Amino acid sequence: MPFARRAPTFATKSRDIEGVASLRVEFEFAVVQKNRKPRVMSGMRPTGPLHLGHLVGVLTQWANYCETADAFFEIADLHAYTTEFDDTATIRGAREAMVAVWLAAGVDPNRSTIFLQSGVPEISELQVLLSMITPVSWLERVPTYKGQIDALGQKVATYGFLGYPLLQLCDIAAFRGEYVPVGRDQVAHLELGREIVRRFNHLYGSSKAILIEPQATLSEFPEVPGTDGRKMSKSYDNAILIADDEETTTRKVRSMVTDPLKIRRGDPGRPEICPVFALWRFVNPLRLDGIAAECRSGALGCVQDKGEFAEQLNEYLRPVRERYAAYVADRGALERIIEEGTARAREIAAGVLRDVKHAMRLT
Ligand code: TRP
Repeated sequence: MPFARRAPTFATKSRDIEGVASLRVEFEFAVVQKNRKPRVMSGMRPTGPLHLGHLVGVLTQWANYCETADAFFEIADLHAYTTEFDDTATIRGAREAMVAVWLAAGVDPNRSTIFLQSGVPEISELQVLLSMITPVSWLERVPTYKGQIDALGQKVATYGFLGYPLLQLCDIAAFRGEYVPVGRDQVAHLELGREIVRRFNHLYGSSKAILIEPQATLSEFPEVPGTDGRKMSKSYDNAILIADDEETTTRKVRSMVTDPLKIRRGDPGRPEICPVFALWRFVNPLRLDGIAAECRSGALGCVQDKGEFAEQLNEYLRPVRERYAAYVADRGALERIIEEGTARAREIAAGVLRDVKHAMRLT
């Protein structure tokens, strides 16, 4: 067995949220110490078109993990069903386009495993097994659960949605994922997952760890703001989409909010509160200091800034968009990549499920 059968040696604390640099050190240390690539697992729900926030916040990181890790990337379609069960056509339609953006961003299907969650029934079987030892109160305590119940009400008051973080743990545990790149809002899910793993190992492990406690790793990038200054998100209608054309992108940039006290060129601006400035960081960090100085002094007006930014943003996105267009045009190739990855994922998940069933005496 190439897998380490013990839990990682480092502890997780709330430090996870801030200690990104130290996590990277731990990650690199793990590579050296174990003399193998650490297993990284992450997923994304196919609920709609991807945007700049996905690209710079998540996918560039995923692309790097193709080199440094043994990486598994999941199309989390069952997770999408927990909230969009009344719109299955959108979920089905989003699948290939989502993977096309992953590939365009540099995720390499030959150096990682791209798979479909619902195509790996071992994950669902694992969920049934782990549900036996998952207290309902732990699930009810997860902040995203409470938040979504408040936001969406009865629609998500389902058994399936309550189990969302357990299903997520099963995604990870089915591959003995060690590192899980996720956003801040997902850290609580990982904490819950670690508790369930501890409980499982305690109940059934008889001194050895059958499952591994996964560790959240956060993107080194700060949150990516959308055109209105809130977090870029499809549901806020403030996103610059990978699939947008250049005119649409330019129009969206022109509509962006900036420092409300900078009315006209000449007024001194505050780049630190300006979402256009925040996006410059991703698109051309070399231009940051110059933009900040010119904005503060009043030499640079918002209209001019947006014009220059829109041009550079389009330039930055052009190669990604070209690759995206080529990938979506070859649907057969995308389907093959997903099929092959799913077959590979199933083999590994089946081995873990066998160990779990054996530990639970389901033999
Ligand atoms: N819940 C994650 C999100 O909304 C997506 C996801 C599903 C995931 N399964 C996962 C992330 C497993 C990491 C690991 O972003």
